[in-house]
Amino acid sequence: MQSDLKRVLYSQEEIAARLDQLAVQITEDYHGKDLTVLAVLNGSLIFMSDLLRRIPLPLQLDCLRVKSYYGGTVSTGRVQFDHAALPLVHGRHVLLLDDILDSGNTLASIIETIRLEAGPLSLKSCVLLRKMKKRSLSIEADYVGFDIEDEFVVGYGLDYQERYRNLPLIGVLKTEEC
Ligand code: IMP
Ligand code: MG
Repeated sequence: MQSDLKRVLYSQEEIAARLDQLAVQITEDYHGKDLTVLAVLNGSLIFMSDLLRRIPLPLQLDCLRVKSYYGGTVSTGRVQFDHAALPLVHGRHVLLLDDILDSGNTLASIIETIRLEAGPLSLKSCVLLRKMKKRSLSIEADYVGFDIEDEFVVGYGLDYQERYRNLPLIGVLKTEEC
């Protein structure tokens, strides 16, 4: 799998070190609060699992499955999810976890739906990666692992056509693989 990469962006050690820092920040911010972490499947699975084990708070965990339609490696902007499967977070502080902030369509749509339909006490978001690009939506993440160039990346939960999620590091795919 690693031979399909043009270059490695973040090694396992670099990811682990950044997760340590993020976890300290989140632990401080949510100390004494009723926290529900909402992980967006499938991309945030590995990030979520490594991050939450560094956060010694009595939090609750739930997952949300959304579908962002992709044409090749570019977002089409359409997001769909199962409203009936929205978690019960009324009166709780919610932290959304996602793999990457790209166009922002996914996070914007989840945030709007949770605000309207689930009644959380507060709602923040945390992404492992944020692409540095101009977004048409005014969406920001509250916690960011790494800022990256606007390139298609895989590994550590992120896929290309459902492959590479189990790569333990983050890298840029060779163009001939896309
Ligand atoms: P959005 O464009 O911010 O809505 O991102 C939607 C989803 O597209 C993300 O949650 C990822 O699953 C996927 N995605 C966006 N950019 C990349 C990338 O560079 N590699 C792999 N998946 C990506
Ligand atoms: Mg994906």
